[in-house]
Amino acid sequence: MNEPSTFPYPFIGEVLISAAEISTRVQEIGAQITRDYEQSERLLLLGLLRGSVMFITDLMRSVQRPLTMDFMSVSSYAGSESSGFIRIDSDHKTNINGWDVILIDDIIDTGFTIHTVRKLLLDRSPRSLRVCALLDKKERHRVHIPLDYIGFEIPDHFVVGYGLDIDEKGRNLPYIASVDLQKYRSNAK
Ligand code: IMP
Ligand code: MG
Repeated sequence: MNEPSTFPYPFIGEVLISAAEISTRVQEIGAQITRDYEQSERLLLLGLLRGSVMFITDLMRSVQRPLTMDFMSVSSYAGSESSGFIRIDSDHKTNINGWDVILIDDIIDTGFTIHTVRKLLLDRSPRSLRVCALLDKKERHRVHIPLDYIGFEIPDHFVVGYGLDIDEKGRNLPYIASVDLQKYRSNAK
């Protein structure tokens, strides 16, 4: 847990999940997906940009099935709090009709993002649709969504690292760390 931060981000609080812990858990989820999709010849990992990039690229190496990868980019309409109104900035390219799709995101907060994207994808007739997220802030959910694969449940802290950002910073940290919001605000221009 005590990886010294050699990264020049002044806002890093505490390391909550180490790189080694992430790696172990990602391999466990990969093994689980390998078992669950033993019969599937059309498996698509569909990641939400940009937060899920590190997770999906690690995860796909632990899934020992034929698979393909695609991405969508979505954002909430206003502010940092999810508003429930999700804008599709860039859609996936694969026709998912008949595919076994696993929708992959970095973190579930209110749940609005996954809720909205899930409904949209179901209209496109995948053979099956499951949801996978590295992190889940369960106590923050404001909408019910079925979650199939979760890496870690975390308390209500703003976190960065392993793909997750605060205003586009911190994505390259190899671990998950809390953001010290006081330090962040006093350093932010
Ligand atoms: P939701 O729609 O409220 O579930 O928001 C999910 C999205 O908000 C994630 O895909 C992230 O982009 C962002 N998000 C929520 N919490 C955090 C956090 O602690 N760190 C970084 N991004 C977050
Ligand atoms: Mg995101």
